[in-house]
Amino acid sequence: MPVPKAELHLHIEGTLEPELAFALAARNGVTLPYADAGELRAAYRFGDLQSFLDLYYALMAVLRTPEDFTDLADAYLERAAAQGVRHAEIFFDPQAHTARGVPLGAVIEGLSASLDRAEERYGISTRLILCFLRDESAESALATLEAAKPHLHRITGVGLDSAEAGHPPAKFRAVYEEAARLGLRRVAHAGEEGPAEYVREALDVLGVERIDHGLRCMEDPELVERLVRERIPLTLCPLSNVRLRVIDTLADHPLRAMLDAGLLVTVNSDDPAYFGGYVGDNYDGVRDALGLSPEQLRVLARHSFEASFLDDDEPRRAR
Ligand code: ADE
Ligand code: ZN
Repeated sequence: MPVPKAELHLHIEGTLEPELAFALAARNGVTLPYADAGELRAAYRFGDLQSFLDLYYALMAVLRTPEDFTDLADAYLERAAAQGVRHAEIFFDPQAHTARGVPLGAVIEGLSASLDRAEERYGISTRLILCFLRDESAESALATLEAAKPHLHRITGVGLDSAEAGHPPAKFRAVYEEAARLGLRRVAHAGEEGPAEYVREALDVLGVERIDHGLRCMEDPELVERLVRERIPLTLCPLSNVRLRVIDTLADHPLRAMLDAGLLVTVNSDDPAYFGGYVGDNYDGVRDALGLSPEQLRVLARHSFEASFLDDDEPRRAR
């Protein structure tokens, strides 16, 4: 029996397995530039974050109707349940769909049709987190939040993802202020490829409650001390870090050092269809590569619930 856990860093578009991509392509009359799922999977060799993002966005061409998003989320939830996930906070990238002419309402309604049945079907409670693409403009992020206003009852929080380097958190100050005013929870990717300074900026300028990745905080001892003191959660994604060449091998992952430093770290899957495993595979990977004890694995699972937004009412940091 896998240990019960929460998954807090999961891009629903990153759960698109090659087989489902081909099934949706056939249903929607989309031609993919690969002969079959095997050939597509063989293309999953990435040199960095951007080379992954190029394929990730291109493959979204098969996601067109609400049913496509429902099927995508159902497939994720079934796999997640098998790996012990009891609660999932799910990112989605509205701008990657609206830019292709897929209405925001179709994305949210499609995902919601799956998530609304997730407790009953899979024993998983869920939250939805709307992410802004940081390589798009601040105005586009504001327009996206404006367009989401009719759907806010379905959205728990906002996040920030896509190409990090050269797109500092402060670029999104205004949209995070508006999100806070609307009562939304706030998270952001920071310190994946970008510097430790972006982690600090996400905390100070965007007021985030949780940092996605945050790996590079380890380059800044003062920042680590602060993250420990303020009990700011970091949602780590070990297999992603290897596949995107943030680190060389799992054995090089700083997770153990981060645990030893007293950081509130959690283990998650990021884009499991692309990175070789779902959340349980990430737990197994770090257990084997870093020699984590059963107690350390239980600590990670406990952290995942502590860091979650299951207590919906109270942000852990002042707005
Ligand atoms: N979008 C999907 N996966 C991502 C990642 N690992 N970093 C930034 N943006 C992403
Ligand atoms: Zn991510």
